[in-house]
Amino acid sequence: MGIVLGGTILLSTVLTIQVHYSLTRVLEEEQGAQGASIGRDLAARATDLILVNDLYALRQLLLETQANNRNVRYAFILDTQGQVLAHTFGQGFPVDLISMNRATPEEYQHTVSLDTPEGLVWDIAVPIFGGKAGTARVGISNEGVRRVLLDLTSQVALTTAIVLVMSLLAATFLTFVLTRPILELVDATRAIGRGDFSRRVRRWANDEIGELADAFNQMAVELERADELRRERELLRRQLLERVIAAQEEERRRISRELHDSTSQNLTSLMVGLRTLENACDTPQVHDHTQELRQVVGRVLDDVHTLAVQLRPSVLDDLGLPAALNRLVHDWSKRHCIRVDLVVHLGNERLPEAIETALYRILQEALTNITRHAHAKSVSILVERRHYDVVAVIEDDGVGFDVNQNHGEGHLGLAGMRERAELLGGSLTIESTPGSGASLYIQLPLNQPAEIDPLIGWKP
Ligand SMILES: Nc1ncnc2c1ncn2[C@@H]1O[C@H](COP(=O)(O)OP(=O)(O)OP(=O)(O)O)[C@@H](O)[C@H]1O
Ligand SMILES: [Mg+2]
Repeated sequence: MGIVLGGTILLSTVLTIQVHYSLTRVLEEEQGAQGASIGRDLAARATDLILVNDLYALRQLLLETQANNRNVRYAFILDTQGQVLAHTFGQGFPVDLISMNRATPEEYQHTVSLDTPEGLVWDIAVPIFGGKAGTARVGISNEGVRRVLLDLTSQVALTTAIVLVMSLLAATFLTFVLTRPILELVDATRAIGRGDFSRRVRRWANDEIGELADAFNQMAVELERADELRRERELLRRQLLERVIAAQEEERRRISRELHDSTSQNLTSLMVGLRTLENACDTPQVHDHTQELRQVVGRVLDDVHTLAVQLRPSVLDDLGLPAALNRLVHDWSKRHCIRVDLVVHLGNERLPEAIETALYRILQEALTNITRHAHAKSVSILVERRHYDVVAVIEDDGVGFDVNQNHGEGHLGLAGMRERAELLGGSLTIESTPGSGASLYIQLPLNQPAEIDPLIGWKP
């Protein structure tokens, strides 16, 4: 558009200046020739009238000459002494005018240009009868030339304006036609960038842009296919993970129950047997040995109990998350001598089993991480229901770590926590910098998104 506008304006300006100058030259030459011819004609026709001294006819001739030529501003006849014989000025004849132009008898004519208040005037002096009868003077006004030039310039300006408007319209239309497919492509590319792979573009013409549109559509088809494949795989992965977690929980629960119901019972029987043996035995040596064995069995019983609780605390199934968390935190705090401030606001209603298990395991892993890495003095844990979510915040005052650092393979704790949260449609956010402790924010929605719903229907 800029090129069209600039080009048209430049062309019309250059053309106008060129035409103005050439036309001025041509018109002025023509006007000079016309003035000379009028002057000569006047001189020829005035000769006889001067000779017979018919001043009345002479004045009539001058008036007639002026009337017949629009450009003639004035005309007058001078005698050989330079006295005015007749003129067209009406009352006051400008005496200065006489001396402004003079033609010698040898000259055919003599022209000077006079700058008058009414504009430029070409004053032409023609000797009459070789100068022996006087001089005829004619003033030709430049007004005609000026008017023609003004007309021409305004016409060129008008034509330029019309051409400009038409060029602008044409350029706008062309720009629209040319850029429409490109804009459509840009729009579709943005949509694909946002993940809308169903977008296609029209093939507007059989040109390079048409080819580009075809290639784009082909790319969109491939991307859509790849995206579908990715979604299917993601769904499969989730389902698999879900089953693995479910199987793991089930296995933990089974082993825990086995340890509690069978192993612990047998160890207790062993303990009772050893006590009976201890009481029945009189030999001090055997008595001491039996007592030692009973202490060992007691420690094994404690270990089995701790193991059973860690594997799957029955209190989680029987009394719910708050009680299980209280037990977990209490035991952990006692074992590691770290102060824990636990606040649980979950109301009276129990949470869905999947959420309770996930939260328990996430907090368990968080506490394990604090034991292993944080060197913390105190920990605070908040678990509460917020509208349609359950939120857990675990903060420690330990050494902290760089969240953006890739810990590499073999570090599965944080990734597992995130997986568990995301499987339930929730999220895990970690905030920590080296030297300033760590905070974990876990958010789990109570109403599962529709696509995850079938996946979490497992029963541990
Ligand atoms: N509370 C914390 N304070 C300080 N550093 C932590 C904390 N939690 C995690 N980290 C850092 O993050 C790293 C990754 O933790 P993650 O639980 O994923 O793996 P891990 O504990 O090293 O191994 P595992 O797979 O057995 O859990 C840890 O190695 C540790 O450097
Ligand atoms: Mg860990």
